[in-house]
Amino acid sequence: MSDLQHRKLGSNSLEDRSFGRLGRAWSHIRQHGLLEPLRLIHRHGLGASLGFVQRNIRHMLADRLARKWDRRHGVDTAGSIQLGALNVVGPHRAKGNEAVCTSPKTFDFIMKSLPRDLHDHTFIDIGSGKSRTLLLASRYPFAEIIGVEFARELVDIARSNIERFRDPSQKCRALSIVEADAAAYDFPEAPLVVYFYNPFSKDVFDIVLKNLVASLERHPRDCFVVYGSSSHRAIDWARPAIRETGIFKELSVPAMPGFRDAIRTIDYAVFQVQAAV
Ligand SMILES: C[S@@+](CC[C@H](N)C(=O)[O-])C[C@H]1O[C@@H](n2cnc3c(N)ncnc32)[C@H](O)[C@@H]1O
Repeated sequence: MSDLQHRKLGSNSLEDRSFGRLGRAWSHIRQHGLLEPLRLIHRHGLGASLGFVQRNIRHMLADRLARKWDRRHGVDTAGSIQLGALNVVGPHRAKGNEAVCTSPKTFDFIMKSLPRDLHDHTFIDIGSGKSRTLLLASRYPFAEIIGVEFARELVDIARSNIERFRDPSQKCRALSIVEADAAAYDFPEAPLVVYFYNPFSKDVFDIVLKNLVASLERHPRDCFVVYGSSSHRAIDWARPAIRETGIFKELSVPAMPGFRDAIRTIDYAVFQVQAAV
């Protein structure tokens, strides 16, 4: 196995695309010749080519900050983990997106749009990856925090992270992971904050949303839905789908700033269930 392939496999032998970005660029140039960058600029234009370089630099800087955060807290949450070779529960592997974590600054910014007092709410991260968002949420006083994740290897890492996480500001210690396809997940009967960060395609989202609405109709209670999306522009279909349920009102939220610790700036929307469900 080449050095590059070794580095692509992160500490847990998962395929991690955040490693080896420069190496991949260099081997592309070696394969196609030194004039390849000029050919690419000619084909895509100078603006698009500079944008591509800028996105990659940003990605590398944000990834460094993510790994620094991990070292400080004794956990493993960083990377762009590909799902292809993982053991996945249920039929929706091909609809799922790679595991990329929410940045701390992004998460804290989103939390400002929710009420301060959520001590009786359960926070649920749908597609919780290696648990970064669960750990960030545990610095807020939720009653309980649950991650739903369909990839066994990520579930194992997440459970070990939860045990090892060290943060003096942690306010909720009732953290757990449910290993399941989100489409088959039954929501608990507590007041909820349901968080989605680009987990899967629209057809899976529609099933999860339908299950959530049915659960709220069976057991009326407070519920916030937070949807964040980046390059996939999933917000463009998630927002109308949530509105069309007729039971959520969208809260007005400020635009997300471009934080240095975020691989991408996300677009996000926050909804709250209307009183009479
Ligand atoms: C973009 S990551 C989000 C990670 C985490 N929520 C965060 O914000 O840091 C998407 C995650 O959703 C998971 N996922 C994709 N489809 C799923 C499904 N049908 N059921 C459960 N998890 C799924 C992926 O394995 C991946 O870990």
